[in-house]
Amino acid sequence: MSVFRTKSIEQSIADTDEPEYQLKKSLTALDLTVFGVGVVIGAGIFTLTGRVAHEMTGPAIVLSFVVAAVCCALAAMCYAEFASTVPVSGSAYTFSYASLGEVFAWIIGWDLILEMFLGASVVAQGWSAYLGVLLGKFGVVLPDFLAYGASPFGLTKGIDLMAVLLVVGLGVLITVGIKESMRVNLVLVGVKLFIVLFVIVGGLMFINPANYTPFIPDAAPVAAKGFSWTQPLIQWVTGSAPAVFGWGGVFAGAALVFFAYIGFDVVATTAEEARNPQKDLPVGIIASLTICTILYGAVSLVVVGMVNYADIDPSAALANAFAHHGQGWMATLISAGAVAGLTTVVLTLMIGATRIIFAMSRDNLLPMGLAKVHPKFRTPWRVSIVVTVACALFAGLTPIGMLEEMVNIGTLSAFILVSISVVLLRRRRPDLPRAFKVPFSPVLPIVSALICFYLTLNLSLETWLRFLIWMAVGFAIYAVYGYRNARLATGKTLPHDGERGAVQPDRKAGGRRRPGLGR
Ligand code: ALA
Repeated sequence: MSVFRTKSIEQSIADTDEPEYQLKKSLTALDLTVFGVGVVIGAGIFTLTGRVAHEMTGPAIVLSFVVAAVCCALAAMCYAEFASTVPVSGSAYTFSYASLGEVFAWIIGWDLILEMFLGASVVAQGWSAYLGVLLGKFGVVLPDFLAYGASPFGLTKGIDLMAVLLVVGLGVLITVGIKESMRVNLVLVGVKLFIVLFVIVGGLMFINPANYTPFIPDAAPVAAKGFSWTQPLIQWVTGSAPAVFGWGGVFAGAALVFFAYIGFDVVATTAEEARNPQKDLPVGIIASLTICTILYGAVSLVVVGMVNYADIDPSAALANAFAHHGQGWMATLISAGAVAGLTTVVLTLMIGATRIIFAMSRDNLLPMGLAKVHPKFRTPWRVSIVVTVACALFAGLTPIGMLEEMVNIGTLSAFILVSISVVLLRRRRPDLPRAFKVPFSPVLPIVSALICFYLTLNLSLETWLRFLIWMAVGFAIYAVYGYRNARLATGKTLPHDGERGAVQPDRKAGGRRRPGLGR
């Protein structure tokens, strides 16, 4: 038994034909694009823009957004090629099971759980913070022990009640049905797009061109008192003096604002719920990333033009740029939009997390019973409950909102492995029909992996340490459970009602075949 055993694409697709493990196929290309935009535009643009411009880049934050966008565009093409070849739930996890082998699939799956599960909890707290600000504008003030930051490890002792209520409400929604979730998503994404366009158009008249000079402020040394866990890994490795701004600041900023783009890859996790995955998934992934890139470039350019980077509010830059110009009502409107907007991010990341765990448990790398779908709703309800409870506990009781860099490192590592997988799968299975192909392969996928790796080097030492601990926990679970129990190793079939999963390697998967996959 090798940890590099691979699961054939045909086997993965056959699993999706098992009626009791089959998700409802209802999503169109438009649904997928809305889904993508819904998850991408969120805490990143609403909160990180101010912090990064103020502390690291100045007006050059626009360049940080461009660097992160190039990185994401290359990765998006790799995801699109895979999604059009292997239209199976689980996204990069499933792709790498087919190409790199089981242990890599496990690593990617574990990275994606980090990205989506942690991302949902982080953004739920951001949502609660914005809601607090908004309620405050209407004179409603929550008691400290129920407000944002009320974790037992925070300043006050209590529970972040709003974050918990949000997660639980959304958990119910994703258990009831994906189409229903998409409807709610559509409305909230509309509100969010309106607000972002409003910032761009409304902000234009307050731009002061003087705020753009200097565009890339000179690198400024940071007074370092010996060793610091918050310095970027690359700074520590090269022994260079800690500094902010300058080109170093642009790249460190890119590694951070990368968070704002996270989510287009989540579209690939819904592959089994798309009506025509081979065609619609590449459209959904690339269209949502393109829309967000254009909006981010415009928003960041406007905001640093409205307020000098030295005066920008590091916590709520978008809203407060308007307050700075005496437009309080615009600031309130933007806060309301942020509350609506962040809701869809949490919703979609929760859906993504459930689909990854669903795919991993269907392969019995996590307990197989989790993968059962609900007979009526046709959603993976058991996983949904686990994800909801875990997210609610983390968002309610820990200061997890500080960990967005962890989400970045999880996502970037998944991108690296996906980029490498594209090249490998082309070699191993040139015969598979690919509705979308990355141009100039293998050059572009390799460049993609290198850029992602470079960005990870710009993340802080403490993030790397936490990430290594997360991976160690993942390897321990794989060694104790997944390696022995994987269906690929045991030959077990998926258990049906009343069964425990038999060893019947020859059992033909029944049910419908997907059109166009030519098995
Ligand atoms: N891209 C998402 C956000 O910015 C995760 O909230």
